[in-house]
Amino acid sequence: MMPKPEEISAIVLAAGKGVRMISELNKVLHPLCGKPLIYYVIKKIKEIGIRRILVVVGEEEAVKEKVKAFFENIEFVHQKKPLGTANAIQQAKGKIKKERDVLVISADTPLIEKPTLRRLIDKHAREGNSCTFLSAHLTFPEGYGRVIRAGREILEIKEEEQLSKEEKEIKEVNGGVYIFKVRDLIRVIPQIYPNNKKGEYYLTESIRLLRREGRKIGCVLASEKEILGINTRDALSRAERIMQERILAKMYRKGVSIIDPHTAYISEETEIGKDTLIYPFTFIQGKVKIGRGCQIGPFAHLRGECVIGDNVVIGNFVEIVRCTIRDNCRIKHHSYLGDCLVEEGVNIGAGTITANYDGEKKHRTVIKKGAFIGSGTILVAPVKVGEGALTGAGTVVLRNRDVQKKEVVVGVPARVLRRRSNG
Ligand code: UD1
Ligand code: MG
Repeated sequence: MMPKPEEISAIVLAAGKGVRMISELNKVLHPLCGKPLIYYVIKKIKEIGIRRILVVVGEEEAVKEKVKAFFENIEFVHQKKPLGTANAIQQAKGKIKKERDVLVISADTPLIEKPTLRRLIDKHAREGNSCTFLSAHLTFPEGYGRVIRAGREILEIKEEEQLSKEEKEIKEVNGGVYIFKVRDLIRVIPQIYPNNKKGEYYLTESIRLLRREGRKIGCVLASEKEILGINTRDALSRAERIMQERILAKMYRKGVSIIDPHTAYISEETEIGKDTLIYPFTFIQGKVKIGRGCQIGPFAHLRGECVIGDNVVIGNFVEIVRCTIRDNCRIKHHSYLGDCLVEEGVNIGAGTITANYDGEKKHRTVIKKGAFIGSGTILVAPVKVGEGALTGAGTVVLRNRDVQKKEVVVGVPARVLRRRSNG
């Protein structure tokens, strides 16, 4: 039943000005859980198997550049002026003729989920519709286009400012995600005129025009969350919350405990093992892998590209970036570790700092198995601390002055005091 992905292309609309964001940054580039809004939409389209993706962009190069940084094989179409969603399609029209159907999706709808897109594509094919779109029932539908029906039949979509007083009561809204038969879309697009207050060409007019031709229109119901369109900062914050809820739900299913879901921020790419406990006010960004039975936080900041083993304790006010921390390490208080390899069973005392940046380059610190780093130690990278070595409180280990295996060093700069017999 399901049409092959080769038979569908996708158009992502991203050329709008996004004036309601009140921002210098293009709307679709605003970060959601650390990634631009448009990233999520393209990712979902790719994941359902659609290969041909056209992105309609405006004058700004930034959107194009950002998309290219994340994805390969995206085609770009330029819309010189943001004259409306139908005008955006008008620009892309010439490029979609080969395929049978086209999925049209707003780049400001990042919470859309794969099963819903599949249901949309499936129903469209099953019913032989000319257009099938996502709708949702909202308690507060203001700002969205409304679905106007006669009984169950869909008549048209009207934008907020086109609505009569009675129509404003309609709670069913247009989700901004559609699949069209390409030839039908191509035929009606030139018939759309900007006869509205904003003077824009509305893609939503296509529904009325197709119906007038006697074509079939269908609709798939989605949840309010999934179709949330990010037009304002307020909606962006709400999306962030929903995204976090989804990420945390995934963590619970893996056996992770989160004491306070309201203050734990975990990136989409984070993986956490069974029986790890996340304390409040923990912020985990980028690609981070945490093992089993760890304790993270409170007030911990894991800034990305970190691999943390099993039974590791990362306590309050610890910041970690680009680090590999092996099993059974303890970094319990007030530390900064950047660009480090910390081997098994290392204890990092309170207030330890890796001075990893010399103003030009970042350098690595390696702390070998079973080493004991005393409180307030500064490790000036690049530097190595040998297996079982110990630094006294307040030691400053200078760059390239590696501490040898079992050595005990103290002072500023560090000097060798003795060798450790145990540890
Ligand atoms: C649109 C729909 C509305 C729907 C809502 C769902 C229209 C006319 N209205 O309204 O029915 O309920 O989405 O979220 O389509 N864009 C362009 N070129 C333009 C204008 C916009 O590419 O000239 C892009 C924007 O970057 C955005 C998308 O199209 O990603 C939708 O535009 P937006 O201004 O957000 O439309 P809404 O007012 O949200
Ligand atoms: Mg919108």
